[in-house]
Amino acid sequence: MTLRVAHLSDLHFGEHDPAAAERLRQAILSARPDALAVSGDLTRDARPEEFAQALAFLRALEVPALVVPGNHDIPRWDLWRRFLAPRRRWRAAIGPDAPEVVLAGDAALVALDTTRRAQWHPDWSAGGVPPERAERLRAALRALAGRRCFVVAHHPLRHPPDVPGRRAPVRAAETLAMLAGERVEAVLSGHLHRSGVLPGAPPVILAPSALSPRLKGEGNGWNLIALSAEGFAVERQAT
Ligand SMILES: [Fe+2]
Ligand SMILES: [Fe+2]
Repeated sequence: MTLRVAHLSDLHFGEHDPAAAERLRQAILSARPDALAVSGDLTRDARPEEFAQALAFLRALEVPALVVPGNHDIPRWDLWRRFLAPRRRWRAAIGPDAPEVVLAGDAALVALDTTRRAQWHPDWSAGGVPPERAERLRAALRALAGRRCFVVAHHPLRHPPDVPGRRAPVRAAETLAMLAGERVEAVLSGHLHRSGVLPGAPPVILAPSALSPRLKGEGNGWNLIALSAEGFAVERQAT
């Protein structure tokens, strides 16, 4: 049996084109995926009205969804809020019962929050995986032993060689080694607004921006990932 996962990223509601959102909605509905993996940056500025639009869009698809935050989903300019309660708006929007694991057949989508409120370098948009988050993820993966596990994380833990000036997340290499040890099949990410599959253990699947006008050299799109007994296949779709 083939399972199909729609991998969306970087929706950036607040700066999106409503016509593109409607095209995306129709395309996902006609693809009839078994699950949705949404790898962060739902909003432009983490405003409640942007979260409301993004969550209304996702819920209307009526597909089990695993959603993780991106750097745009914690306040950027409101430093008071960023430091004291960076995920309050995010949590209020997705709700207290939002799943950290979504099961589809013999596969599991597992959440990893890579956002950070501040870092010891000026690029605060770069993410990281503090040791306690890595340990929590390891425990979640061990509880899913026997399933095919796919981790969903906004920031790619491995970067393409031709992306200059972007910092890899803090503790990316250690986290990838842990995920390889736990036999994670792939990591689904966004943030760079470009698509591709970066080989390695585990491979990193990049989704382009689904709706943002910040295109960074590539048009809007999303990934349809087919999981079969032979492995996974990624088909990039245009929005
Ligand atoms: Fe983004
Ligand atoms: Fe991002």
